[in-house]
Amino acid sequence: MRRSRSRTIQPILQQTQLALTDLVVPLFVDENIVKNKPITSMPGQFRYSLNNIDSIAKNLCDDGLRAILLFGIPKNKDPKATSAYDKQGIVQKAVRKIKEVVPDMVVITDVCACEYTDHGHCGIIGKTRCGTDLLNDASLELMNRISISHAEAGADVVAPSCMLDGMVGSIRSALDEEEHEDVLIMSYSTKFASAYYGPFREAADSGYSFGDRTTYQINPANAREAFLESQLDAGEGADILMVKPVGFYLDVLAEIATLGLPVAGFQVSGEYAMIKAASQKGWIKEKEAVLESLTCIKRAGADLIITYFASDVPRWLNEKS
Ligand code: PBG
Ligand code: ZN
Repeated sequence: MRRSRSRTIQPILQQTQLALTDLVVPLFVDENIVKNKPITSMPGQFRYSLNNIDSIAKNLCDDGLRAILLFGIPKNKDPKATSAYDKQGIVQKAVRKIKEVVPDMVVITDVCACEYTDHGHCGIIGKTRCGTDLLNDASLELMNRISISHAEAGADVVAPSCMLDGMVGSIRSALDEEEHEDVLIMSYSTKFASAYYGPFREAADSGYSFGDRTTYQINPANAREAFLESQLDAGEGADILMVKPVGFYLDVLAEIATLGLPVAGFQVSGEYAMIKAASQKGWIKEKEAVLESLTCIKRAGADLIITYFASDVPRWLNEKS
C-alpha cells in the first residue's frame, strides 16, 4: 500500500476532491441594523445589513463561490409570521439586490417561520391533543406563501426547513400554480432535533419561548425514520435532499444518497463553533480540521455542503497547491 502513498503518487490517486462549487455559504441579513454585527457564539460570522449584502455576495462570487443560503432577521415578529412573506420583507429585498448585482450566484432561501414568529416556533401554533404545538396543515399554507414571495423576488431555490408533513408537495404545487416551475426545492428533508443548533439561535434570533422542536424534528437515534423522511420528500418532488446536522450523521447521508437525488449536508452552527473554539485555543489546526471535515462529508456522498467555513475555503485551497 505504501507505494501509492508516496508524495508524488498520492495526489493523482486522491479519490475525493473538494471543489468550490460543492459549497453553499449561509448568510444572515438583518433588517434592524445598518452596520454588520458580529455573532458572538460564531467567531468570524456576522449578521449583514441590507445595504452590504450585495457586495458580500459579489466578493464571494469573485472568490469562486457559487451558492448562498439566506436567513432573514425581520424588524417585526408576530404569531403568524406575516413579515416572512411580505414583498418588502428583508429576505425578499436582499434577494432582489443580490440578483441585480450577481445574477450568476445561486440564491437559496431558508423557508421557515421561526425567525418571524414572536413565540419562535417554525410555523403556526395552536391547541392539539397533546397541548400547544406546531399545527401541520395551517403551517403548510404559510410555507406556500413564503416560498412564492421568495420565488417572486428571484430566488433560484427555496429551502423549506420546518419538517412539516406534506410540505414539499404543497410548496411544489403552490410554486407551479404561480408559474414558478423553474424554482427548485432543496428540502431540509432529514433534520434532526439537535443540540448543535445552539449558536444559530443567537445568530438568527430564532430561539423559542416554550417547549422545544422535538415534535417536528427527528430523534437523532432514528436512522430508518431519517431515511423515510427523505424518501417521502423525494416522492413529493424535492430536487435536492438534505441531512442536518451532517458531521455526526454521515451514515444517514450515505444511505440517503442511494435515493438518487442530489444530497446536501449542513455543517451547522454548533459544528462550526466547536472547530472554531478549539482552534482559537490552539488545540487543533483550523484549516486542516475544516478541510478534513468537508472532504469527509463529500466522501460520504454529499453533492453540496452548507458550511459557515465556506468563505475561507477559496484561500485555503489556493494555499494548498
Ligand atoms: C430554522 C433553522 C435552524 C437552523 C437552520 N434553520 C434552527 C432550528 O431548527 O432550530 C440551524 C442552522 C445552524 O445551526 O447552523 N428552522
Ligand atoms: Zn424554523
